[in-house]
Amino acid sequence: MAFLLFLFFVTAAALSFFLCTNEQRRRSDAGRQSRQQNEQQKKKLKLPPGSMGWPYVGETLQLYSEDPNVFFASKQKRYGEIFKTNLLGCPCVMLASPEAARFVLVSQARLFKPTYPPSKERMIGPAAIFFHQGDYHLRLRRLVQAALSPASLRALVPDVDAAVASTLAAWADAGVAASTFHAMKKLSFDVGVVTIFGGRLGRRQREELRTNYSVLERGYNCFPNRFPGTLYYKAIQARKRLREIVSEIVAERRATGGDDLLGGLMSSRVDGGETGATAALTDEQIADNVVGVLFAAQDTTASVLTWILKYLHDSPKLLEAVKAEQMAIYVANEGGKRPLTWPQTRSMTLTHQVILESLRMASIISFTFREAVADVEYKGFLIPKGWKVMPLFRNIHHNPEYFQDPHKFDPSRFKVAPRPSTFLPFGSGVHACPGNELAKLEILVLLHRLLTAYGWEIVGASDEVEYSPFPVPRRGLNARLWKLPQEMVATAAGGA
Ligand code: HEM
Ligand SMILES: *[C@@H]1O[C@H](CO)[C@@H](O)[C@H](O)[C@H]1NC(C)=O
Repeated sequence: MAFLLFLFFVTAAALSFFLCTNEQRRRSDAGRQSRQQNEQQKKKLKLPPGSMGWPYVGETLQLYSEDPNVFFASKQKRYGEIFKTNLLGCPCVMLASPEAARFVLVSQARLFKPTYPPSKERMIGPAAIFFHQGDYHLRLRRLVQAALSPASLRALVPDVDAAVASTLAAWADAGVAASTFHAMKKLSFDVGVVTIFGGRLGRRQREELRTNYSVLERGYNCFPNRFPGTLYYKAIQARKRLREIVSEIVAERRATGGDDLLGGLMSSRVDGGETGATAALTDEQIADNVVGVLFAAQDTTASVLTWILKYLHDSPKLLEAVKAEQMAIYVANEGGKRPLTWPQTRSMTLTHQVILESLRMASIISFTFREAVADVEYKGFLIPKGWKVMPLFRNIHHNPEYFQDPHKFDPSRFKVAPRPSTFLPFGSGVHACPGNELAKLEILVLLHRLLTAYGWEIVGASDEVEYSPFPVPRRGLNARLWKLPQEMVATAAGGA
C-alpha cells in the first residue's frame, strides 16, 4: 500500500497536467446531476465505451505503470476512435481519429474550452494566450501571429543564425560530451528572447530573464506546495521577479517602440466601449504573454531538435543526403562567407521532410486537453458538460491507416501531403501553434550550421526515452561536437 501511495504521489507530481481541482470535480458532479434530469426529456445518448477504473485514482496507475503510448494505443484497439476514462478524478473522453480531433479543435471549437490545472495557469500567468477564448484570445492571437509571420521571420534570420552560431561554438569549445537537449534549450530560449524583444535586450536583462525563468521551470512540474523552500515556492517568487523585469523593459521601451512582439503587445489598443476611451494591455497582461511565449517556445523546439539529431545519427545514408543538401547552399554562399537567407531556408526540401517526419515520429505533444462547455453529441455518444476531452495526436500519427509502416522513419512519405487532419504536430484550429514557422526556421538554420561546419558523435546509449516532461532520448542525447578544419569542409563541399 505504501508503495502504491508513493507511486501515486510520484505520478501525480510527474504529470501534474492531469491534476484536476476539487472545484472542477464539483462542477462536473453538478453537471452530471442536471444532465440526468435533462436526459428524461431528451433522447437518451450513451456515454462512449471504456472503463473508468477505480474511484478517484481512475486509470491513472495503469497509465503510469505502462508506457503512456502503449496505454492509449491498447485503449484505441479495444474501443475504437472514442472512449472514456478517468484520470486523477477527472472524467475524460479520448479521441483517436482525425475526424474527432477536427470536431473538437476546429468545427465545434466553441463548445470546447482550453483547460489547464490552476497551479500551472498561475505559474505561466493567467492572462497568457493559451487560457483564453473569444475576443481577448483573438486580439492576442493577431499580435502573436504578426510577430511570427513570414515577413517578420525573414527579418529575423540573421538573429536566429547568430544564436545558432553561438550555441554551437559554446558546445564545441567546451570539448566534452553534453546533453543535446540542454544545449538546444539554451538556443530555443535565445531565439524566443530575440523574437519577443527584437534583439535589443541588454546582456544583463537577458541573463536575469534566463536565470529567473530556469527557477520558474524547475518548480513548474512540482507538486504545488507553497511552503517556503520548496521548488514550487521558489518558482512563484521567480515568477514575480520575471514580471518586474518585463515591466522594467516595458518602461524603457515606451520611448522607442518597435515592431517585435513586445512592441506589438505594447501598442495594441481596443475600443473601450461607451467611455470612448481606448484600452491598452496592462503590464501584467504583457508579462503573462511574454512568459507564455517563452514557455511555449522552449522545451517544444528543443526536444524536437534533439530527436532530429538522434534520427539522423541512426540513419547514416539519410544524414549524408541531408549534409549534401546543406553543403550545396554552403558552397553557393562561398563557404559561409555570405549569410544564409530566408529564400535559402525555404529551398531545403529534403531537410524539411526530415523535420516533418521527426515531428510525426516523436509526436512530442502526444495529446492536448479541452473541456466541454455544454453536453455535446458526437456520433451518437454523449460528451457530458465539464468532462475533459483529449485529441490523441500521437495515435493519429502512428496509425497505419494514415501513415504506412508508422514505426519506420521515412522522410520521403512527406513528398506527398498527408491527408487532411491526419498530421497535427502543431495542433489545429483557433489555438494551433502560431510559432510553427519559427520553430522550423530555427531547426533548418541549426542543421545548416551543424552539418556544414561541425563533426559530432553521440556518446553512450541513447535508445531509452526520458520525459522532461516531453519525451527526449536518454540523458537528453549526450553528444560531443568539434569544429571541422576549413580545408576538410572545402573538400566535402567539393565532393558534394
Ligand atoms: C517544434 C516546436 C513546437 C511544437 C511541436 C509546438 C506545438 C504546439 C501545439 C500542439 C499547440 C496547440 C496546443 C493546443 O491546441 O492545446 C501550440 C500552441 C502554441 N504555441 Fe507552439 N509549438 C512549437 C513551438 C512554438 C514556438 C517556437 C512558439 C513561439 C515562439 C510557440 C508558441 C505557441 C503559442 C503562443 C501557442 C498558443 C496558441 C493559442 O492558444 O492560440 N510554439 N504549440
Ligand atoms: C532574477 O532577477 C533578479 C532581478 O530582478 C536578479 O537580481 C537575479 O539575479 C535573477 N536571478 C535569480 C536566480 O534570482
